[in-house]
Amino acid sequence: MKILHASAEYFPYIKMGGLADMLASLTKEQAKSEEVYVALPFIGGLGKEPQWTGKEYPALLSKDAKTDSLIVSVLMASRFLEAEESGVKLYFFQSDLFQSLNSIYGHADEHFRFAMFSYACYALSQMLKVDVFHAHDWHTALSVALQKDSPFPIPSVFTIHNLAYQGDHPFWMTGFLKEEPFRLVTSPFDHNGKCNYMKAGILSAGQITTVSPGYREETLTEPNGFGLSYCLNQRASDYSGILNGIDSDEWNAKIDKRIYKTFTDSNWKEGKLKNKTELYKEIGRPFLPLDAPLVGLIGRLTYQKGFPTFLKALLERRHLPHRYVVLGSGDPETENAFFHLSETIPDIFYFYKGYNEGLAHKIEAASDFFLMPSLFEPCGLNQMYSHVYGSIPIVSRVGGLKDTVEESNLLPYKTGIVFEPNDVGSLGYALERASDLFRSDERDVVVKNIMNLDWSWEKRKKEYQLVYTRSIELQI
Ligand code: ADP
Ligand code: GLC
Repeated sequence: MKILHASAEYFPYIKMGGLADMLASLTKEQAKSEEVYVALPFIGGLGKEPQWTGKEYPALLSKDAKTDSLIVSVLMASRFLEAEESGVKLYFFQSDLFQSLNSIYGHADEHFRFAMFSYACYALSQMLKVDVFHAHDWHTALSVALQKDSPFPIPSVFTIHNLAYQGDHPFWMTGFLKEEPFRLVTSPFDHNGKCNYMKAGILSAGQITTVSPGYREETLTEPNGFGLSYCLNQRASDYSGILNGIDSDEWNAKIDKRIYKTFTDSNWKEGKLKNKTELYKEIGRPFLPLDAPLVGLIGRLTYQKGFPTFLKALLERRHLPHRYVVLGSGDPETENAFFHLSETIPDIFYFYKGYNEGLAHKIEAASDFFLMPSLFEPCGLNQMYSHVYGSIPIVSRVGGLKDTVEESNLLPYKTGIVFEPNDVGSLGYALERASDLFRSDERDVVVKNIMNLDWSWEKRKKEYQLVYTRSIELQI
């Protein structure tokens, strides 16, 4: 089967969050048995120099090249450059629209830039004559709408990674979608008076998926549907939740070159102690005693991640022996609050503002616990990464977190600590339970247990295969 994915992120080239990791690891696994292609934007600030094959493809279908418009001329001056990575063919969309960008999101004209990228992805799918076209999140959603209206539609799948970001723009900005080469009827994409790209993807795709069964259920009602639950309910029979997998070549305590000392489930105590000691040296914080539990936190500092709840719980439970190392950037208010704690309680709290892939691995390896206080979480990857590094996750009971972490009373099934979202008391009590678990004999059983959980894509890629088959059958 030939599959083309279209995405704004792909690790290690463009990464802002979990989408990059999810797609790179899924496609690497798919490429073991299928022909897998990925289209992504060519930005100035790529995380790695691609291995070019020298092949190029146009970004415009020849029939559309005959029409005359500004958009057509921009697309004529753009192209796809082919590269290869782990058995996957990558198609970098080279265009003035993206070339000058150092990071992928947050720029003016996103409505136009991603619409153009979406058209180019659609054109590429037609040129490569793929069997399935798989688009991810609002940035590429219009390519699915173009597919639906095409005289030669390719079976399509649209994956929602996060409903909080929908790509909705005032209609006066999206008038160009009616023109060549789009020719889209945009009135069905109207949501609250705006042209909503995410809605276009939901309405147009043959099959829709999201990244965990738990989040699928949550998005069928408000507020977690972010206003689009009615749309998802209309398409409920074509909508499935497939849990993300992880890349065990990238995230693996046994072989990780980014950490200070690799370890297994039999020498994890020694491994953690060494990683903790070295991490403290690197960040310049000799947190003592060394056997006090270290809680790691990593993430985009946005509303979704629930950090203000953590801040309140931390201050309420100052008596606990925990030390905290936080890595992230985003919302300035949360950044300032973390900086403030880093200054006022430097003996227990450290904050690193920024994005640092290497440090993320080191924190996972050194931490005894990993905290994710999300208010909502489509899947979440760090709780699974934490398992692999023997770092016990403490998570809120939402979305993919509740599908992957269980605080069972039956010891062999306990894979973490779970609390209620947005509830300071519940989070505080979870921190208390972590402290008890840290000192008890149970900890060894739990750590060994979580280090052996299988979060690989091997089993789960079959679920995507089924969705592809369903989308193909629908088209016949
Ligand atoms: P989301 O996609 O919502 O941000 P996920 O848990 O799915 O959440 O994935 C986040 C990914 O981004 C993880 O690989 C995490 O380690 C990484 N990450 C987030 N913030 C940072 C940061 N500041 N530095 C390094 N890695 C980060
Ligand atoms: C989104 C979600 C996150 C998920 C990731 C990959 O960014 O916020 O929960 O793990 O996509 O699917």
